[in-house]
Amino acid sequence: MHDDTQAARIQQAAERLRNSHKPVVLTGAGVSKESGVPTFRDAVDGLWAQYDPSQLATPTAFMNNPKLVWDWYEYRRSLTSTASPNLGHRALADLERRFPHLPLITQNVDDLHEQAGSTNVIHLHGNIAQNKCFFNCQGDPTLIDVSTVVWDKENGPPTCPHCGRWVRPNVVWFGEILPADQLQAATIASRQADIMLVVGTSGLVTPAASLPGIARSAGAFIIEINPDYSAITRIADIKLDGPSGEIMPRLLAALDT
Ligand code: OAD
Repeated sequence: MHDDTQAARIQQAAERLRNSHKPVVLTGAGVSKESGVPTFRDAVDGLWAQYDPSQLATPTAFMNNPKLVWDWYEYRRSLTSTASPNLGHRALADLERRFPHLPLITQNVDDLHEQAGSTNVIHLHGNIAQNKCFFNCQGDPTLIDVSTVVWDKENGPPTCPHCGRWVRPNVVWFGEILPADQLQAATIASRQADIMLVVGTSGLVTPAASLPGIARSAGAFIIEINPDYSAITRIADIKLDGPSGEIMPRLLAALDT
């Protein structure tokens, strides 16, 4: 892409944003890639290019091999817990200064948006730093602070101090329903938005992937930021090609010119 064309699109997107009253943001794994957190579907280094989700990210996989699944999440935690927000996260947090309470819907299970300073983050797929009872024996979710639980790591996950059954990461697995409060907040924000910024998602996993369509049907203008094509590209009114750590700061700078 010729950069003049891209620069013109950034100006156009900034102009739209400047006149917006109710923007909303939807992010996916791409926004954290420049922080060293792998995406899922990038062909070479995406997690699903290297691991089989059916063996690692379903309730059945966990019940069949709790230690394998737990250890894989410990590995992913080692990546997220040492990561820092990148320029894309920071630019999105800066956008909230211009639009107080800007709803930022994310499919990411890291907390890099919060670390960057975003305060109204809607987590559709949970939080990898948290754990809960597999059976949510005290209500959904029954969060467990595993730092207070003593267990033999060679034997797999810790057990719930209330019911003695397995503790699992507080993330949404394939085949599970999303946290109802977060999904409701995301749907309402999408319906009310006049602009949706869609950053770093392949748009392949519903219900998150249906939010841009919901926003667009309700009249929102869709701006996508992604170095590649996605399932959202065909409904995007403006597509900005490139990594969010580069494009988001350019968009923010254009807002002030
Ligand atoms: P994917 O891995 O499916 O898609 C990542 C997207 O980010 C792709 O479209 C890339 O082109 C784009 N991308 C790569 N580098 C980027 C960069 N530097 N800046 C911006 N974009 C970049 O990740 P998600 O769409 O988030 O669900 O995946 C959705 C869900 O599928 C995840 O939440 C996870 C997964 O299975 C669960 O675990 C429930």
